[in-house]
Amino acid sequence: MSKNTIPAPLIYPFALFICASTATVFASDSSLQPIEKLGKKIFFDEHLSINRNQSCATCHVPEVGWVGDDTEINEHGAVYEGSIKGEFGNRKPPSSAYATLAPLFYADFGNRLLGDNDMELAVDPLFVGGNFWDGRATGWELGNPAADQAQGPFLNPVEQALPDMACVVYRVCEGRYGDLFDEVWGPNACSNINWPSRGEVNRACKDPDGQVALSPMDRLKVDRAYDRVALSIAAFEDSSESNAFTSKIDAHRAGFYEFTEQEKLGRDIFRGKGLCSACHVGTPGPGAAPPLFTDFTYDNLGVPRNPENPFSIANPDWADPGLAGFIENVAGYAEYALTNLGKQKVPTLRNVGLGSCEALEYGDDNEEQQKGRGKGRDDDCIVKAYMHNGFFKSLKTVVHFYNTRDVKPTCESLDILDATEEVALANDCWPAPEVAENVNIDELGDLGLTEEEEVALVAFMMAMSDGYMDADHDDDDDDKGNRKRMGKDDD
Ligand code: HEC
Ligand code: HEC
Repeated sequence: MSKNTIPAPLIYPFALFICASTATVFASDSSLQPIEKLGKKIFFDEHLSINRNQSCATCHVPEVGWVGDDTEINEHGAVYEGSIKGEFGNRKPPSSAYATLAPLFYADFGNRLLGDNDMELAVDPLFVGGNFWDGRATGWELGNPAADQAQGPFLNPVEQALPDMACVVYRVCEGRYGDLFDEVWGPNACSNINWPSRGEVNRACKDPDGQVALSPMDRLKVDRAYDRVALSIAAFEDSSESNAFTSKIDAHRAGFYEFTEQEKLGRDIFRGKGLCSACHVGTPGPGAAPPLFTDFTYDNLGVPRNPENPFSIANPDWADPGLAGFIENVAGYAEYALTNLGKQKVPTLRNVGLGSCEALEYGDDNEEQQKGRGKGRDDDCIVKAYMHNGFFKSLKTVVHFYNTRDVKPTCESLDILDATEEVALANDCWPAPEVAENVNIDELGDLGLTEEEEVALVAFMMAMSDGYMDADHDDDDDDKGNRKRMGKDDD
C-alpha cells in the first residue's frame, strides 16, 4: 500500500472470541489452555488426511517459522505435495503463525474518500485482512480468518484430501483425544454422534469421492463439530506457542536486548530509505500490541513466475491472479478484480529467516538460537523459499530484488522456463513479472541501497525470529550490556 494510506484501526476479533469461549475451560499443567492443546493435537495429527500421512504441520513446521521445511522442495517448485501423491496446489505455504491476528477481510472505501464529491466513491477501495495469499479465508464464517482457513486443508484435494468433513470429525472424536474434545466443547460434543460401523466409515474416508452415511440430525452435529475443530486449531494458532513474540525485536522492545550496529543500520533502512515499513508496518498495533510487520493489505511486487512451480509447469499459461481470483467471485467487489490482479497479501516478516542456513551467516548468536529451535531435526538448517510462489531462495536475494528490480535489465534472452532465481542472478537480470498489471513502481524497484545496506536489512529481518527470549544467553560482557533495561520505542 502507499505510505500515506493508513488502514482503519486493525481489530483483533479473535482475542475477544478466546475470552468468551474459554470461560469454562481450566488451565492445566501445561502452559496451553485445553482448547489450545486440543488444537495442537489436531494440528499435528497425520491421521486427518486421506492417506494418514499429512498434518497441518507437514507444511507448517514450527522450527522453521511455520512453513515447509524441505530444502529440496523449497529450492525448486516450493509447492508441497498433498496427501495424495502427485497432487499439488499452486502456492508456497505462508507462516501459519501470527495469522490469527489478521483482521476480517474488508474493503476500506473510507480512506479513499478524499473529497465531498460522491464520485470519489467510485475510486478503488483498499482491500485489507483475511488469510491466504489472496485473502479468501475472510473470517466471515467463524469470526476469525484463521478459523475459516482451518476448515479448508482437510477437504482440499491437493492437501489433506479427505472426502467428507465427517471423516475429520470421526477421526478426532474416535481417536486418542476424543475425550479432550468433549472436555473442551461440552459433554457430548463428540460422543453423541451416531456413526455407521468403523469399517463403513473407513471405507468412505479412503475413497476420494466417499461420503459417510449419516442421518440429517447427525449431519448437523458433524457440521457443528467441524466448526469446533477449526476453532480449536485457531485457538492453538493464537496461543503463545504459535504467536510467541520472543524475537530479538521483542526483547529489544522490552528493554532486554540491544541491537548490534548492523541490526540498527538495518532497522533504519527498514523504516527509512528501504520503505519496507510502508507495508511491513513495524510500529506497535492498537494497545501497544507488538508489531506484526504487515499492514494486511495487498500488492503486486512484480515477482517473477516460478518456472519450477509444478502447477505452472502443468498449466503454462497460468499466472497467479492473487486477490483478483478471490474478489471476482464476491458480490460488490467483483468490479475491482482487474485493478487487483496479481496482488498478494503482505505477509508478516516474523520468523521469516528462522531455521534457514542463511540465518547462520548473520547476527551474533543466531547459531545458538537455531540449535535451540532445531532440536530433533536431522539438519541444522534448511533453504527456505520466499514470496507467494517461492521464486526467491534467500532473504538476501529478496532484498536485492526490491533494490534493483527496475535497475537491472529484464532477462529477455532466457526461456521463461529456465528463468529461476539462480539463472537470473548468474545473468545479472530479473525475469519479467508473473503478472504485469498493477505492479507497484512507487515503493520499490530502485532503492539505491549499497551491498552493506542490503546485508543490514537481512540481519534486521533475522532479528524477527522467535526463540531468542527462550534461549539461554551466556553472561559474557556483551550480554551484560544487553540486559540493561532501555526505555524502548517501536521498531
Ligand atoms: C500440503 C501443504 C499444506 C497443508 C497440509 C496445510 N497447509 Fe496451510 N497453507 C498451505 C499453503 C500453500 C497456503 C497458502 C495457500 C494460498 O494462499 O492459496 C497455506 C495457508 C495457510 C494459512 C494462512 C496464513 C496467512 O497468513 O494467510 C494458515 C493459517 C494455514 N495454512 C494453516 C493450516 C492448517 C491449520 C492446516 C491443517 C488443517 C494446514 N494449513 C494444512 C499449505 C498447507
Ligand atoms: C508496497 C508494499 C511493500 C513494500 C514497500 C515492501 N514489501 Fe515486502 N512484501 C510485500 C508483499 C505484497 C509481499 C508478498 C508478495 C508476493 O508474494 O508476491 C512481500 C513479501 C516479502 C518477503 C517474503 C516473505 C515470505 O514469507 O515469503 C520479504 C522477506 C519481504 N517482503 C521483505 C521486505 C523488505 C526487506 C522490504 C523493504 C526493502 C519490503 N519487503 C518492502 C509488500 C511490500
